[in-house]
Amino acid sequence: MTTQGKTINITLKVWRQKGPGVKGKLETIEAKNISTDMSFLEMLDTINEGRIVQGKEPIEFDNDCREGICGMCGAVVNGIPHGPEKAMTLCQLHMRKFKNEDIIVVEPWRARAFPIIKDLVVDRSALDKIIQSGGFVSMVAGGAPDANAIPISQNIAEKAMDAAACIGCGACVAACPNASAMLFVSAKISQLALLPQGKPEAAQRAWNMVHAMDDCGFGNCTNEKECEAACPKEISIVNIARMNREFIKAGFASHVM
Ligand code: FES
Repeated sequence: MTTQGKTINITLKVWRQKGPGVKGKLETIEAKNISTDMSFLEMLDTINEGRIVQGKEPIEFDNDCREGICGMCGAVVNGIPHGPEKAMTLCQLHMRKFKNEDIIVVEPWRARAFPIIKDLVVDRSALDKIIQSGGFVSMVAGGAPDANAIPISQNIAEKAMDAAACIGCGACVAACPNASAMLFVSAKISQLALLPQGKPEAAQRAWNMVHAMDDCGFGNCTNEKECEAACPKEISIVNIARMNREFIKAGFASHVM
């Protein structure tokens, strides 16, 4: 049942941690008269405004677009990355999904490869390192070609677009009991491997990105499927199977090292 257009009182239990490597703990914060029309991040804004007036430290959290596009936001809400709504980022979650007197536990992404910077903010630069290792096409592509100059079947184009929907938020890592980044990496490999422009470097890309993922300290995939369930863009684990095929093929390619 939703509570649209009302106000609710909630109890937040928020992870507070002053900095990297410092011991943190859950802090209990009572929030009164929260409009159910607010987004989750607006609720945190409101709490922070009150805390600043009272001379208390605001709760640090990442955000940017607040439209489900940039992948900056993210926290584990009541044990679920991005909260209880399927296919939704934290910035698009609304307080109408909660009830009066609810207790809401908010924690950062927890993974060895995502060290906590402060409170709910984690360092996700490991994902950038993986992209830097091969998540691109290095040929000179020239100007934008006509849309129909390179024939690509609709089936392939749609699979590539579905993979390209990944916003790199890291929810897949946070959801996985092994803190694996395989859904993220496989989406980035797939979006290029499926298209003709990405094929010439497909083997080297898969080789480099999988090794970069291992070097960054992410765990392995044991088919838990928690990543797919938590992904706000509904990236399919079919991409992981494709990544594994690309990686095996790369192992047989003489030019890959
Ligand atoms: S703030 Fe950009 S996706 Fe949530």
